[in-house]
Amino acid sequence: MQVHVLGSAAGGGFPQWNCNCRNCRRLRGGTLKGRARTQSSITVSGNGVDWVLFNASPDIRQQLASFPPLQPGRAVRDTGICAVLVVDAQIDHTTGLVVLREHTEPWDIYCTRAVYDDLTTGYPLFNVLSHFRGVNWHEVGLDEAAFPIPRADGLLFTAVPLKSEAPPYSPHRHNTIPGNNIGVRVADAATGRNLFYAPGLGEIEPHVRRYMEEADCLLVDGTVWTDNELAREGISDKRAQDMGHLNQSGAGGMVETLLSLDCPRKIVIHINNTNPILDEESAEHAALVEAGIEIAYDGMDIAL
Ligand code: MLT
Ligand code: MN
Ligand code: ZN
Repeated sequence: MQVHVLGSAAGGGFPQWNCNCRNCRRLRGGTLKGRARTQSSITVSGNGVDWVLFNASPDIRQQLASFPPLQPGRAVRDTGICAVLVVDAQIDHTTGLVVLREHTEPWDIYCTRAVYDDLTTGYPLFNVLSHFRGVNWHEVGLDEAAFPIPRADGLLFTAVPLKSEAPPYSPHRHNTIPGNNIGVRVADAATGRNLFYAPGLGEIEPHVRRYMEEADCLLVDGTVWTDNELAREGISDKRAQDMGHLNQSGAGGMVETLLSLDCPRKIVIHINNTNPILDEESAEHAALVEAGIEIAYDGMDIAL
């Protein structure tokens, strides 16, 4: 299986259009050693031709331009994307669907019922798309049964319900129900390897830890280094935990969990622009390197 990181940043991207935090300011000014990043999305293929898009980022136009396998190659209107799977109903994971409205047939979209409900009410993207070619919704169940996606040859997908947060426009904000957020295992029958992708992960429950233990590659929530990072930058008094993201540092943080796992590749993704790991000269960046944890970047390719 081939995994390609289209966007490695959290909502807002890096730098964020209106953000003058230490990282954004320095990146814009050319004094930070680090890379710009677009908003949260990856794509995965078993055959190198047909690609499943995981999350449709508002930056998808730029992301498609950066990755020729997704571009039209066979017909006057064409795409390498055979289906879209969204892990939640957040703006950064779904807004790209509007950009993809010119598709010549209904999009095959995989998501849970909770996400479907939000995308037909609070943020009615699917209703909007129904005025174009429409949405062919495939309900992703919460029973952790592996399912195939037509054309995604050789791959099996398992949705893993997990604790994070529902979007602000959801009736389940701060009162989540199973299915508001999932992680996904993608297993390749030919290689026997699997990826576990969870860009929003607020708590590592025992069943989630099992998926992490069994993964050959982890792409997990790297939003913030500390829970109070936004407050420290004077941006917002919201804690990362209030937004469904587990901090990396400290007792019970993501780094501690990753250090306790044998998984061959441990990669953090969905990195917020305030996170000090984005500065490649920071102590926090060095701490991840020291811990054997990789930091996803746009254009990163992973073969499994
Ligand atoms: C999140 O991951 O918490 C959301 O995507 C934040 C946002 O984009 O507004
Ligand atoms: Mn997000
Ligand atoms: Zn910023």
